[in-house]
Amino acid sequence: MSRLDSVIRRLQAQRACIDWAVAEVEGRPGCVLELGLGNGRTYDHLRERMPGRDIYVFDRQIKAHPACIPPDDRLFLGDIGETLPSAAGRLGRSTILVHSDLGTGDEARNRALAAGLAVMLAPMLLPGAVVMCDQEMPLQPGWARLPEPKGVPPDRYYLYRTG
Ligand SMILES: C[S@@+](CC[C@H](N)C(=O)[O-])C[C@H]1O[C@@H](n2cnc3c(N)ncnc32)[C@H](O)[C@@H]1O
Repeated sequence: MSRLDSVIRRLQAQRACIDWAVAEVEGRPGCVLELGLGNGRTYDHLRERMPGRDIYVFDRQIKAHPACIPPDDRLFLGDIGETLPSAAGRLGRSTILVHSDLGTGDEARNRALAAGLAVMLAPMLLPGAVVMCDQEMPLQPGWARLPEPKGVPPDRYYLYRTG
């Protein structure tokens, strides 16, 4: 498979998972967390698909397209290990959907980060919340791993629902 094909497949899987998750939480109150703004592609997709939702965005830096920079009061800037606990203090248990795309090519770092994220996220999630992550997360009490939506290859994205 060419690298172009590979990128296209990765982005198609990302979009399919986001669209599936948006439909899963439709009509249920709660805010959305976007972990990893990057150039703002998935943030832009989330806000287009969920125009009424509060979407809080996390990154250590702003490198996004100028049209995809969240408002200041929706942005947590800094290392996620510090900003997520701070957000938990502000938002409490009010999150219905999380999209996390923080991974790099460093597998050991990805595993450690995903483990820390799961623990930090657990007290922020409403019952029945959906978590999408580019890395496998250790199951927290009450969480279940969900199958990928139709057409998404296994283990490309990891999907969870809280009890
Ligand atoms: C792959 S990009 C996200 C791409 C984004 N989903 C998009 O569609 O444009 C990953 C982002 O995560 C951020 N990031 C990685 N580790 C982080 C950490 N520990 N704390 C905060 N941000 C982090 C990086 O700065 C980078 O912007």
